[in-house]
Amino acid sequence: MKIGIDQMAFATTDKYIDMTELAIARHVEPNKFLIGIGQVEQAVIPKTQNVVTLGASAASQIINETNRDTIDMVLFATESGIDNSKAAAIYVQKLLQINRYARTVEVKQACYGGTAALMFARDFVLAHPTKQVLIIAADVARYGLETPGEVTQGGGAVAMLVKANPQVLALNDDSVYMSTDIMDFWRPLYRTEALVDGHFSANIYQDFFKELWQRYQMQTALAISDFTAFAFHLPFTKMGLKGLLEILPTASESHKTALLTAFEASRVYNKRIGNLYTGSLYLSLMSLLDNQAFTGGERIGLFSYGSGAEGEFYSGTVQPTYQKGLKTDFKALFAKRERLAITTYEQIFNDHFVLAPDDVAYDLTNDSSQFVFAGIKDEQQQYHQR
Ligand code: CAA
Repeated sequence: MKIGIDQMAFATTDKYIDMTELAIARHVEPNKFLIGIGQVEQAVIPKTQNVVTLGASAASQIINETNRDTIDMVLFATESGIDNSKAAAIYVQKLLQINRYARTVEVKQACYGGTAALMFARDFVLAHPTKQVLIIAADVARYGLETPGEVTQGGGAVAMLVKANPQVLALNDDSVYMSTDIMDFWRPLYRTEALVDGHFSANIYQDFFKELWQRYQMQTALAISDFTAFAFHLPFTKMGLKGLLEILPTASESHKTALLTAFEASRVYNKRIGNLYTGSLYLSLMSLLDNQAFTGGERIGLFSYGSGAEGEFYSGTVQPTYQKGLKTDFKALFAKRERLAITTYEQIFNDHFVLAPDDVAYDLTNDSSQFVFAGIKDEQQQYHQR
């Protein structure tokens, strides 16, 4: 029985900044950001948006009158959650009127959480082949103004429906994974911005990829020639390129070109959104499937990395029907975004959600999204659907 991703959808905000303008404002040569980091634009997340609103917005493209009654589980992966106890999944369940007999849970291990959720869902469907799982991988990536990580911020959500006989990608039962206690990136409970040892984190990412790729080849007897493309977790898109370049020397000359072309397809969207932590690998997969033609049957390798640290390498097989399962019109999404001046972005960045018990009602006039975070009342977060 094939099990995997049946549908995929993405959401972000309607605001962004241009990385050339950010480079000029930070007195950096623009090609460092555009080529050295590999980012061209960055989604800006106002305080009226967070993982709940972004997650609901992505999942609303998948949930309909029929499947809202049959979803058995909602797994919400995030590392920028909005409550220390209650799962963001329950807020989304309510906003999208998903049936009350679904399990609703939050999953956390940095950027790896989306992959953990996907694998839990796969195993659940294997045990219960008629069941369907909604996965949401949503995050807001914040490092701070004028920090080295600023160019790698961003935010958004990917929603995926996992079931038997999937339309998009069948998951092959070939995962290799590893975890080790490493302090490369973390966010203490009292902080809204992550702490990161940037170069160290990038080195650990590459070390994990190399070790897991070796282990994968030993366990499966597959080699690079068995892969049509690779998709990487993309904290910034140059990071994935560094990963690919580690293994490219083992490919034939013509295959090298094909893999590099596929890599370019896999980073088109991430270059314009920035990091969305748990969702980054899956946005990259959507980018690959949207920007390169497949016939079905191609094997794609996927590398997931979450600081702290945990990694997984696995493969999926593209289904001939994959286009039917890709639910987001990215052309329209990018066309309706508003480019902000760097000073406006800085004001929005500083005017963030403050952890405080006081009632507050946010001004929603600048946010036309379907789902908004409207403020706090009686220490409870208020979400509205328009
Ligand atoms: N033209 C072209 N390239 C240029 C250039 C120019 N004018 N100027 C510099 N560059 C290149 C550099 O040579 C370098 O390339 P290489 O890495 O290939 O050597 C690249 O631009 C970046 O330059 P620096 O290393 O000097 O950049 P930096 O020190 O300012 O910051 C960073 C880079 C450490 C990644 C920083 O952005 C950061 O801390 N980011 C957040 C952490 C992160 O994303 N880590 C990734 C792994 S952890 C993970 O994956 C989980 C997660 O999502 C967070």
